[in-house]
Amino acid sequence: MRRILVTSALPYANGPLHFGHILEAVQTDIWARSLRLAGHECIYVCADDTHGTPMMLKAQAEGVTPEELIAGVEAEHRSTYRDFMVEHAQFHSTHSAENREMTEKIYLTLEKAGYIAKRTIRQAYDAQAQMFLPDRYVKGTCPRCAAKDQYGDSCESCGATYTPSELIDAVSVVSGTPPVERDSEHLFFRLDAFEAMLREWTRSGALHPSVANKLDEWFNAGLRDWDISRDAPYFGFEIPGHPGKYFYVWLDAPIGYMGASLALARREGLDFDAWWGAASTAELHHFIGKDILYFHTLFWPAVLTGAGYRRPTQVHAHGFLTVNGQKMSKSRGTFITGRRYLDRLPPEALRYYFAAKLDAGIDDMDLSLDDFVNRFNSDVVGKLVNIASRCAGFIARGGGTLAAQLPEPALYEEFSTQRARIAALYEARDFATAIREIAALADRANQYIDAQKPWNLAKDPARAADVSAVCTQGINLFRVLITYLAPVLPAMAENAGRFLGQPIRHWDDVAAPLLGTTLATYEPLATRLDPKVVATLIEPDADAAAAPAPAPAKAAATKAAIPAAAATPSAAAAEITVDEFARIELRVARVVAAEYVEGADKLLKLTVDVGTEQRTVFAGIRSAYTPEQLVDRHVLVVANLKPRKMRFGLSQGMVLAASGDGTGVFLVAPDSGAVAGMRVQ
Ligand code: 2FM
Ligand code: ZN
Repeated sequence: MRRILVTSALPYANGPLHFGHILEAVQTDIWARSLRLAGHECIYVCADDTHGTPMMLKAQAEGVTPEELIAGVEAEHRSTYRDFMVEHAQFHSTHSAENREMTEKIYLTLEKAGYIAKRTIRQAYDAQAQMFLPDRYVKGTCPRCAAKDQYGDSCESCGATYTPSELIDAVSVVSGTPPVERDSEHLFFRLDAFEAMLREWTRSGALHPSVANKLDEWFNAGLRDWDISRDAPYFGFEIPGHPGKYFYVWLDAPIGYMGASLALARREGLDFDAWWGAASTAELHHFIGKDILYFHTLFWPAVLTGAGYRRPTQVHAHGFLTVNGQKMSKSRGTFITGRRYLDRLPPEALRYYFAAKLDAGIDDMDLSLDDFVNRFNSDVVGKLVNIASRCAGFIARGGGTLAAQLPEPALYEEFSTQRARIAALYEARDFATAIREIAALADRANQYIDAQKPWNLAKDPARAADVSAVCTQGINLFRVLITYLAPVLPAMAENAGRFLGQPIRHWDDVAAPLLGTTLATYEPLATRLDPKVVATLIEPDADAAAAPAPAPAKAAATKAAIPAAAATPSAAAAEITVDEFARIELRVARVVAAEYVEGADKLLKLTVDVGTEQRTVFAGIRSAYTPEQLVDRHVLVVANLKPRKMRFGLSQGMVLAASGDGTGVFLVAPDSGAVAGMRVQ
């Protein structure tokens, strides 16, 4: 058994998780799960990256303390990762006692060992805001091409690089006043002292060859000392022995990997040094985006070495994500947050798509929404789930027990002996090839069933044993496939394990087929994605228009869910039978548009997508919601209500809401993941 500690880059705590974050977390999670299926200990830790000038200024702008800002963001990050089934052994924060402890300890060791230099630098200073300005907080006219409104480090128009003092008509982004120059003493980490070690580590197999080549360019350009201090005011940790100086966020961010590990070790009584000590025999793997390679492949191994810790075993970099061929952008609507996705679609569909496109390289990856729908609907629903659902019905009708033998043991062997290769592909991060090969096996399984035609055999009672044999074969082939996909589709694999009566824990579970055992009732494992819903992922300014979190429904108000169109609650109604209830067709609907109704002070006119078509519904919820708050929300509607002619037009259904204790009206919404057209039953 190998001991493996794995991390993904720490997301900044000043905004929601977007698809770029989700891609990286899913990649890391799939990798970690695949190693656990091989029987290794693989622990995945992460944290929020909380410090720095942007956090401080954002908190100021929102009128909260930085601690309040990062607490709110952390809650969102945790729930989004969780809902994407990203399994962290520890999700921590760089603004934590453990991280402070590690950062101070590392700094003091580096200082004692002579790796810290002091130097005075001249920097832009905002006299009004009384703070030094990072380059990005100074704007002005490019000294080379005269393009206006350029940042203090480089020109987006001509590509020139310069210092803020070279900008023409420079102003501080913070106060709008022209910056002055001011001297300040800073602390530098002496990176050049580690050049020999870094050159060797770079070629030790720690990096993909294309990344190692990039490092050679950096070596040739010369390793420069790294400024690790910032002046107050700064949101971060004050440097021991240097009042008014703070650790630069990029020093304590990667140390956050250790801070998270330390918190985990203390919580669970584990051995921190076994992961991080210089003599550690555990593996350490970092997953990151290619934009932060410099920090992870130069500064980080050097800091670790200088402070007496082990170096990373490997740093795995991935490319950027584009959406429909374009850079993610808020105005184009391609900046998709994780939560926006989760409000509409099942997490495993995205995990599957990312897996199908990921390999070990650093090329950028495109998320094409059409391709996304096709892949999931065709591979997962059409091929994989289809095998289980077709065979499960016949097995159930024959008593629910699998046959005692496989009719085609060689075919099963062909599938199950692929497990070493599939495991190796996951470990090599070539998920795309793994998915392709699994999909090819799924085709083989479907061909087998199509050729045997159990539905024909089932017409002849004398051939019941053949039906059972064919479907036992089919279920076993399915079991191999879902085991191979378990790192990508963890919930589906768990549900399949329940159906099969045996959880999926190890690649070797499929060494032998399941025979003679009784299956649980088959529940659909996945449903098709609706392209119309997928299309709503990208609407310009999508998140700006998205509804805020629904108001928490008061317990007292939920006693009776009453139609919002009828504004007064009904008294407790007479009992009805299940059949009577079943006559009411409740469906999940998505609000496509909402508007005020002239002359009606209680009503809003909603256009809702009920899955099959769009309907107009008048709802008595104007006192509680503005039209903007409703667009894109999912609600519940009575879909088979007889259309009613109202003074303002025809109402083709009813939206459900709770009310009754005088505190207001609360829409009833399905849990996240539900999509328009689903039946409520
Ligand atoms: O680039 C980023 O989003 C950083 N927050 C990543 C930090 S990774 C690690 F060093 F902490
Ligand atoms: Zn320019």
